[in-house]
Amino acid sequence: MKRVLSGIRATGRLHLGNYLGAVLGMLELQERNDLETLYMVADLHTLTTPYDKNELKNNVRNVVLDYLAAGLDPLKSTIFIQSQVPEHTELFYLFSTVVSLARMMHLPTYKDKLKQYPNASTVALLNYPVLMAADILIYKASLVPVGIDQEPHLEVSREIARKMNEIYKTDFPEPIRFATKGEYVPSLTGEGKMSKSVEGSYINLTDDLETIKKRLAGAPTDSGVGKKIPETGGVANLLKFVELFEDIEKRKKYELSYLSDGIKYSELKEELADAIYKKLLPIQEKRKQFEEDPREVDGIIKEGAEKARKIAGDTLKEIKEKMGLL
Ligand code: ADP
Ligand code: TRP
Repeated sequence: MKRVLSGIRATGRLHLGNYLGAVLGMLELQERNDLETLYMVADLHTLTTPYDKNELKNNVRNVVLDYLAAGLDPLKSTIFIQSQVPEHTELFYLFSTVVSLARMMHLPTYKDKLKQYPNASTVALLNYPVLMAADILIYKASLVPVGIDQEPHLEVSREIARKMNEIYKTDFPEPIRFATKGEYVPSLTGEGKMSKSVEGSYINLTDDLETIKKRLAGAPTDSGVGKKIPETGGVANLLKFVELFEDIEKRKKYELSYLSDGIKYSELKEELADAIYKKLLPIQEKRKQFEEDPREVDGIIKEGAEKARKIAGDTLKEIKEKMGLL
């Protein structure tokens, strides 16, 4: 059976970008019975940028709760925490022997992160994509539901798979991204993508209606009329949200208004906030149930690690043999 692997770093609560770009893809693939799905919290990757060690465990737990609340189902998917499957780090080291330093240094995602955190130029950050390749390939996963910003990392995973297959005659698949309609959710600030690390850019899955309204209120707009529908910036992004959370018809209606009598942004934002909250409410209710049953969540995480370690251990043994270590 083909396998699917995905993960999210534990840098804070999940937002609409994580949900539409990654989690919805995870949910869709979990329902297919020709696929085995494994979903993790990438806590080791969290250490590649500044983090608070007193908050880490809590943040990891929150991602697990967000996963379960969003509908990841332990009966259908293996849900686990990356650092609890130490085989990933061992395979990561083996993989690092076939990756050139120059390739890693020129990766756009590495350069972006350095720009964002100038003091984070560590070997761990440089190695980020190699560990990610190990996460995926230790399960020989061929499908990876993630947002479009992760594509350069998947390219590295494919290169590592090819190299390993060539040199050591392994049979790693070349993993491809599973894209969703929301593969790029824009920022509420009108610039770039929605991201946890940009204040004012996001709406969290756990936000209540008032908070959603407040966050939308901060999104930049214009006079509401014009000769051409804006393609970038605050208004373009708001229209994209209307399309994602209401529907394309609604978007078209607003576009017509823009070209004629004008959009009233207070109304657009009010309606949009309601539409977003309506989608989030069932997730929030489910989250409460899991929060009230910490033992069940502990059990899911423990069982997930056990299941993942079985597969990971087999792959690691095979690779160590092929590389001449065993
Ligand atoms: P962030 O940029 O907020 O820190 P992460 O890098 O932790 O988010 O991303 C976790 C997952 O969510 C990845 O699969 C990523 O591609 C996806 N994702 C993050 N932001 C967005 C977005 N704005 N649109 C679509 N997908 C996104
Ligand atoms: N790099 C991913 C992100 O920022 C997280 C991640 C780590 C991941 N390992 C992975 C995603 C393996 C998919 C598969 O969100």
